[in-house]
Amino acid sequence: MALLEIKNLTAGIEEGEILHGVDLSVNPGETHVLMGPNGAGKSTLGNVIMGSPAYNITSGTIILDGEDITKMTANERAKRGLFMSFQNPLEVPGLSLEAFLRSAIREQTGKPVRFFQYKKDIEEICKLLDMDESYVERDLNVGFSGGEKKKAEIFQLLMLKPKLAILDETDSGLDVDAVRTVSKGVEHFAKQGGALIVITHSTRILEALNVDHTHVLVKGKIAAEGGAEMVDEINENGFEKWVK
Ligand SMILES: Nc1ncnc2c1ncn2[C@@H]1O[C@H](COP(=O)(O)OP(=O)(O)OP(=O)(O)O)[C@@H](O)[C@H]1O
Ligand SMILES: [Mg+2]
Repeated sequence: MALLEIKNLTAGIEEGEILHGVDLSVNPGETHVLMGPNGAGKSTLGNVIMGSPAYNITSGTIILDGEDITKMTANERAKRGLFMSFQNPLEVPGLSLEAFLRSAIREQTGKPVRFFQYKKDIEEICKLLDMDESYVERDLNVGFSGGEKKKAEIFQLLMLKPKLAILDETDSGLDVDAVRTVSKGVEHFAKQGGALIVITHSTRILEALNVDHTHVLVKGKIAAEGGAEMVDEINENGFEKWVK
């Protein structure tokens, strides 16, 4: 059974439709890449899957693990194992990354966090991400550099261990070393059996991953699909043949 099954999804904002009938299916543990020109609707699709209240779903269904989540809130979806790393992570003054995580874990599992294991996880993941532990005590994303925000997103991903993570340009704006570090984190998640939808304009983050499927979104529709080879093809020829 597919982990995520999107059928004929139409969604948009008050001013108009952005996604015009998207189908997409992800099996447990698979890595999917979502590519497409600027403004195609990739972030919108991610946000709609995650349940952002900024968008209205006008038709179609989103099924997670056999359960219809189309009408659920973002919170309810997160509890069921969905996670999204945002293209522009929000700054949250007054709430530390650590406190945010603790409440997210508590909310998702329905149990208080087990302190020693939790501290150990934090330590291990900080090491994996080459991240100073002091970031965990700082207010979430406040004053974080662009690259640090992206690392903080991956930190959350590794702590929360969702079933499916949508990464929206998590590799953009990162220096060479940071891309490698973030890739390592994402690879770690994938190796533990996590499924991924990676939205990206670059191939660097994909080098560490085994890509199962590639989807090309153009003007709110899936214009083409293929395997890992499609990423190289797009790198060489761009999206021209799908943009009419
Ligand atoms: N909340 C919103 N309000 C108004 N317009 C929106 C909103 N969200 C998306 N759009 C519009 O929908 C289109 C798709 O935007 P989206 O951010 O999904 O593109 P994208 O494929 O992620 O592009 P990029 O590669 O530049 O990140 C754009 O024209 C954008 O301006
Ligand atoms: Mg985007």
